[in-house]
Amino acid sequence: MEELKRQAAARALEEVRDGMKLGLGTGSTAKHFVDLLGERVRAGLDVIGVPTSEVTRAQAERCGIRLTTLDDIDRLDLTIDGADEIEPALNVIKGGGGALLREKIVAAASDRMIVIADDSKWVDVLGRFPLPIEVIPFGLAATRRAIAKAFAESSVSGQMVVRNGKDGHVFVTDGGHWIVDAHLERIADAPRLAGLLNAIPGVVEHGLFIGLASTAILAGAAHGIRVVERR
Ligand code: A5P
Repeated sequence: MEELKRQAAARALEEVRDGMKLGLGTGSTAKHFVDLLGERVRAGLDVIGVPTSEVTRAQAERCGIRLTTLDDIDRLDLTIDGADEIEPALNVIKGGGGALLREKIVAAASDRMIVIADDSKWVDVLGRFPLPIEVIPFGLAATRRAIAKAFAESSVSGQMVVRNGKDGHVFVTDGGHWIVDAHLERIADAPRLAGLLNAIPGVVEHGLFIGLASTAILAGAAHGIRVVERR
């Protein structure tokens, strides 16, 4: 699996040009990309990156990749990030690693977003992977009720679980928020659900990335690399 993730990352690296401003994703697949980018930077490639998490920031610094912020530059040319699920219209679930808020801010500030993944992430319909919803701890019960209403209005249902970290305590995001993972199984109308969740005050962000990914690069053991463009 790691080899497939690395192959997808290596193919994405072919899209990187000298002088580009890059969004650097988070997660085990994006980690391969940052490693490979670091090798190219040490060989003379001139790029600058905006990391989507503190973990990626630390890795990029170790790799010698020059970093900036979205306060200091206008737009990014390209963001390369992993995904938890990708469907044929290239709507995506992200946030399994908990970095969805910065990931979405960076993707939205980019001219192009390429998602890289092993092909087990390719699905017909989103939802088998629990949908991460980043929430403000204040008033959580009220926010959960509002989320349940949004689920009902978009004809989905399922358990909501506040995410814990590896230490057994509640997981806190880089932004200081919590994550509710929603086990929905099948999200028939992801754009509609995304819109309803966007309107809830206690929801900071959610893991439905609608219309953001322009390209998916999928690596599979059977069929090699597949590049899918958004129609
Ligand atoms: C991080 O918050 C996530 O969005 C990851 O990009 C996503 O979960 C994919 O991670 P892996 O590459 O580790 O599967």
